[in-house]
Amino acid sequence: SKGPYAHFMLKEIYEQSESVMNSMRGRLNFQTKSVMLGGLSEENVYTINSSRRILFISCGTSLNACLAVRPTFDELLNLPIAMENASDFLDRQPHVFRDDVCVFVSQSGETADTLRALEYCQKKGATLVGFTNTVGSSISRLTHFGSHLNCGVEVGVASTKAFTSQIVVMMLAVLRLSDDSRRLAPRRHEIMDALSRLSADVAECLRMVAPKVKALAQRLLDAKSVLVLGRGYQFASCLEAALKIKELTYVHTEGINSGELKHGPLALIDENIPVIIFCTKDAHIDRARSAIQQVRARKGKPIAIISERDEEVEAAADDIIQVPQTVDCLQALINIIPMQMLAYELAVLRGNNVDCPRNLAKSVTTQ
Ligand code: M6R
Repeated sequence: SKGPYAHFMLKEIYEQSESVMNSMRGRLNFQTKSVMLGGLSEENVYTINSSRRILFISCGTSLNACLAVRPTFDELLNLPIAMENASDFLDRQPHVFRDDVCVFVSQSGETADTLRALEYCQKKGATLVGFTNTVGSSISRLTHFGSHLNCGVEVGVASTKAFTSQIVVMMLAVLRLSDDSRRLAPRRHEIMDALSRLSADVAECLRMVAPKVKALAQRLLDAKSVLVLGRGYQFASCLEAALKIKELTYVHTEGINSGELKHGPLALIDENIPVIIFCTKDAHIDRARSAIQQVRARKGKPIAIISERDEEVEAAADDIIQVPQTVDCLQALINIIPMQMLAYELAVLRGNNVDCPRNLAKSVTTQ
């Protein structure tokens, strides 16, 4: 049931402070700083760490969750990490080897392209790993091992709590896979500390952004097109924010790596196009500041997502949404919350079907 909420999507957005906790429950011991994931036994950890590479294969929001954790897999493991959109992977039929580990990430566990890609990798003899939310789903049955998201049933077609739980569970996986490294212990502990505060940070974020987002939705109501910029840890955020806004509002929205601005997208900037920019604090903040200046210089009206007061960003932006600051590699999980809410508010204002946007299905079981 929707309880007191008008739509399942809104309920699922608000559930996230709880669902991220449920994804960690019994898996992360905050006191002993250790991670136990049912699917990642000693033997399975060895299989992954001695593999040739890890290939993440999925679609839509699930692929964006993979992109969100990619920098941390790059950082904590000594393995090449590749990302594949399942349909493009099937079109290309690329090389897959017996000593590859192929990770299939899917809320439903039934997405046709992801399943076909799994069958392809199965034929090649690769190790198959699954992260799904649905116990007994095809992907959880056909993979050699994996973990469930445990975020509860997601009803809204637009994925919200599954995205944040996918980030949590894959973060736990990479912490488990790197737990024999003494060199990485301080970084791993920093991430675990942030995970221990995550539920509270999500709750605070929901409180902080709600009124701001409602007001922003009113102002963006007539936009014909929206751009969302980010880079580094926030590249995944801009893709996922754009996906949420386009599927809920039916307004053209594009997520762009701000490193690409000068290679074409700058031509789109004028005084009419809303440009949302992730400027939360991490090693790339100077580049985010430069992106906001580039937009401003073309008469654009940037809307900045910040995690700390920032004079330069605040002076250049037309609008600011502040969110709580967490560790850099988990910030995407916090940053997506105002974007989920913005997509929701815009859909309501436009009179769209929030829980079942036109032309879309919750589980895409045809190719
Ligand atoms: O069930 P899956 O995670 O495999 O679904 C993949 C996509 O179809 C899904 O994430 C889709 O992009 C969502 N509707 C986005 O909100």
